[in-house]
Amino acid sequence: MLKSAAQDLNALRERVVGIHTRVPLLNNDETRPYINFDNAASTPTLKDVLDTVNEFMLWYSSVHRGTGFKSKVATQAYDDAHRIVAEFVGANLKDHAVIFGKNTTEAVNKLSYRLPLTKDDVVLVSLLEHHSNDLPWRARAHTEHIRADELGRLDEADLDRLLETYAGRVKLVAITGASNVTGHLPDIHRIAEKAHKAGAQILIDTAQLAPHRRVAMGALDDPAHLDYVTLSAHKMYAPFGTGALIGRKDTFEQGEPEYRGGGTIEIVTVDHVEWASPPDRDEAGSPNVVGAVALAAAIKVINKVGMNVIAEHEAELTAYTLDALSSIDGLRIYGDTNPANAANRLGVIPITLNGMSHFLVAAILGAEWGIGVRNGCFCAHPYLLHLLGLSAEESNRVRNDVLVNNRSDMPGLTRISFGLYNTAEEVDVLRQALSNIARGKYYGRYVQDTKSGEYNAVNWKPDLSRYFRL
Ligand code: ALA
Repeated sequence: MLKSAAQDLNALRERVVGIHTRVPLLNNDETRPYINFDNAASTPTLKDVLDTVNEFMLWYSSVHRGTGFKSKVATQAYDDAHRIVAEFVGANLKDHAVIFGKNTTEAVNKLSYRLPLTKDDVVLVSLLEHHSNDLPWRARAHTEHIRADELGRLDEADLDRLLETYAGRVKLVAITGASNVTGHLPDIHRIAEKAHKAGAQILIDTAQLAPHRRVAMGALDDPAHLDYVTLSAHKMYAPFGTGALIGRKDTFEQGEPEYRGGGTIEIVTVDHVEWASPPDRDEAGSPNVVGAVALAAAIKVINKVGMNVIAEHEAELTAYTLDALSSIDGLRIYGDTNPANAANRLGVIPITLNGMSHFLVAAILGAEWGIGVRNGCFCAHPYLLHLLGLSAEESNRVRNDVLVNNRSDMPGLTRISFGLYNTAEEVDVLRQALSNIARGKYYGRYVQDTKSGEYNAVNWKPDLSRYFRL
């Protein structure tokens, strides 16, 4: 652990479930503790979250439906979870609704159905977006992409240009709070002011941001407020299948939900439906109460540690890593590479190594070092093509290859992404691993599956059921 935040987070690291789990290496005699540098995809859970879930299960019952005592306890817990999530993002339940669903993808899709958009309306997304905050808007409105600069930062001058070009037609600016590829943090409140001034609302996808920085939606009369935010519990140490859309209540007091059914109504006759108030109108069917309780429990841990402590630790770790990796010959870091800027971005660091396939680098890290990363395009294809500087012709070649099921030359990066529990010692192992790989020092022989693009070590087929089986 690094200096400042070390004490609090050292103790919390011990409370990460599976932190000491050992995994086998290609050299079958050896195991080593797994190093998880794939937190931008999913975080492990925390003992406190698991303990809360176990305790809650003794009381688990139907919510908003049953009359039994357990139902009352479970309903209270579910309602409290709404309140805890609202407070976490600086919302208030008078003006905002917290709508639970599966994840951020579902939350953005829900909003895309619930806003009264037409194909003439304009939604501005950015080139940085995860597909989940891009494709839903393309389906519902005329969608324009705000450009990114060569370091992958959102180009606000281009936002200004688009707001002017489409003046009067822009209904929503929908951008990420933090890139899941480069960790870039757009200035969301300044962008919110611009959106509001242009008569638009703003959605911030905080799937990546919320586990690492404070989210402050603000009062509806504040020009810099955020109208909607989305988040996923599986990136926040509570992987029990819940996400949330938090947004201005007046939007959800109108119109019809995209999923209709149990729990969404006040009264139904054969020829009339009276919809319920938010959030019930938008939480069709029996909800994932356990997931909501787990998310609330994770938020309580984060609050207790303090988001500033988490941010400080992750910034130190990011600066340390940028510095450590910069000395490896042949290693290129994408995005902002300056350690001095680490506090202004997240600990998400994408790299390439010596022109090697990202599939191969990731495979070696996993098989020979017990390090888990993600490689590829991270559900952000337009952004990756931009970062890698692919021409239209090259992008077309990639598209044609994929269409014939050949991903052997799929462009991509290898991504290192931190959680609150990662340490400098883990980064030292990564640095050693990448430095060895860069010099061709790895012992496995790997073959590529051209359909998936993935490399597998020859003659290595560990019996996975030895580690977990149902
Ligand atoms: N969006 C997640 C990632 O970036 C899944 O890995």
